[in-house]
Amino acid sequence: MIVILDFGSQYTQLLARRIRELKVYCEILPYTTPLDQVRKQSPKGIILSGGPDSVAADHANGNGNGKDMPLPHPGVFMLGIPILGVCYGHQVLGKVMGGKVKRSSRREFGLSKLNLIRSADIFNGIKPKFDVWMSHGDEVAQMPVGFVALGSSENAPYAAMANPLKKVYGLQFHPEVSHTEFGSLMLKNFVFEICEEEPTWQMKDWIGNACKEITKQVGPYKVLVALSGGVDSSVVARLIHKAIGKQLVAVYVDTGLLKAGETERIRRIFGKLFEDSLIIIDAKERFLKVLKGVTDPEQKRKIIGLTFARIFEEAAIERRGLLFLAQGTLYPDVIESGKSVSGKAHLIKTHHNVGGLPDDLKLKLLEPVRNLFKDEVRELGRELGLSDEVLGRHPFPGPGFAVRILGEITTERVDVLRAVDSIVDEEIRRAGFYDRLWQVFPVLVGAKTVGVVGDMRNYQEVIAIRAVESLDGMTADWSKLPHELLGAISRRIVNEVPSISRVVYDITSKPPATIEWE
Ligand code: XMP
Repeated sequence: MIVILDFGSQYTQLLARRIRELKVYCEILPYTTPLDQVRKQSPKGIILSGGPDSVAADHANGNGNGKDMPLPHPGVFMLGIPILGVCYGHQVLGKVMGGKVKRSSRREFGLSKLNLIRSADIFNGIKPKFDVWMSHGDEVAQMPVGFVALGSSENAPYAAMANPLKKVYGLQFHPEVSHTEFGSLMLKNFVFEICEEEPTWQMKDWIGNACKEITKQVGPYKVLVALSGGVDSSVVARLIHKAIGKQLVAVYVDTGLLKAGETERIRRIFGKLFEDSLIIIDAKERFLKVLKGVTDPEQKRKIIGLTFARIFEEAAIERRGLLFLAQGTLYPDVIESGKSVSGKAHLIKTHHNVGGLPDDLKLKLLEPVRNLFKDEVRELGRELGLSDEVLGRHPFPGPGFAVRILGEITTERVDVLRAVDSIVDEEIRRAGFYDRLWQVFPVLVGAKTVGVVGDMRNYQEVIAIRAVESLDGMTADWSKLPHELLGAISRRIVNEVPSISRVVYDITSKPPATIEWE
């Protein structure tokens, strides 16, 4: 197995996932893990992740001595196994092994070119100049003794370095991010050629282990699964059902902030499978009431999370022995809510099913897929026998339309967005683009503009269309949909929904924007 020591990067789980793709088992441990515990795993290699901290700057006074910087146990560097440092991990190597790290005069964020200086096993099969994804403000200014430079970028002379004898490698860029050309190949070279691992891990093993864990954790108690009908919660419900059968209670809450026809869909798809263990709760009025007058996105998310939690607690009180709440939290939800393994990742937004839960939640949390990415969850669902109708759906955020209606949530605005959403859905499917996109949805942006309809002045709201392509939701590019299709969508919206006067198309990637607008 491979151990990843986490320093709080947004991309740590992406590293883990790339290793799983190679069919190799890996585990993420906080960088503070005691040496004994690391040794106990008998890893064949260690990866030091990126992170938001700075090796060069002192956090207290910025004098550059780096004394507060997070570092792993020094014994980690003496285990005699290969080590790969990525981004902050690269700088940790530079510092710990005796080189110098300094604040860069020019920071690098986004795409950069790497020029290979000399050949090395980690770059086998890779061309001499290629795109890499950078995100750093510090750089290695002087390499430690025993290290050689492998590659440079415009602003980082030692963007790739190695001590070939000790099998220690440092990469300033992120090989785990899909924008880095040959990134997966570098990790493959590290895992198979340098660590000499074997590709033996598979999804079936994951299911077997997860079921065992769930059974052990739950014991004789019941588990309430928060079923939204989306891919993640559906897969979690099916997985838990496989593990504990009748001990599962599936609860679907109609928040009134959902796409058209959701409740009927849930009944049709899950009614048979879960029979009388499926409970449908109508909470439309309740959500509208708690969201009245709320416009701040973080507050919306927190209120929605809290309301969900209270509804689940109430449902649990009605059933004896119901002790657990299971939800389809995914890794991007965890990391963007600032809850990494190391506790060092920054908050981007509070995903309703993670940060929105109250501290006094009276149910114990069960989140069996919290370390997986969307496409891995889809693969898991396929293995568990769920249909393409369920697995092929686009992600839909827990807070639903509340984070796609900027400003106040009212029944009228929800109805408008739902009508527009159905049009967008229909047109995208008709044109055969649904399966090519990660997500496509309209946003009610809360601005009004002037139009002219039948010689009359019209002053109504604007809709933005967001369509993105992505592998995992961590990074995304706006989709270059054909102009004719965008035109058809726009025409239908302004013709069929009188309270919309204008349609615009969002052409921002993630980063720097996020996928949802709030
Ligand atoms: P962002 O907007 O952060 O979204 O780029 C990344 C992916 O996560 C979905 N998303 C959520 N999913 N609860 C969820 O279950 C949430 O609170 C939430 N917020 C965003 C979003 O739709 C996208 O696919």
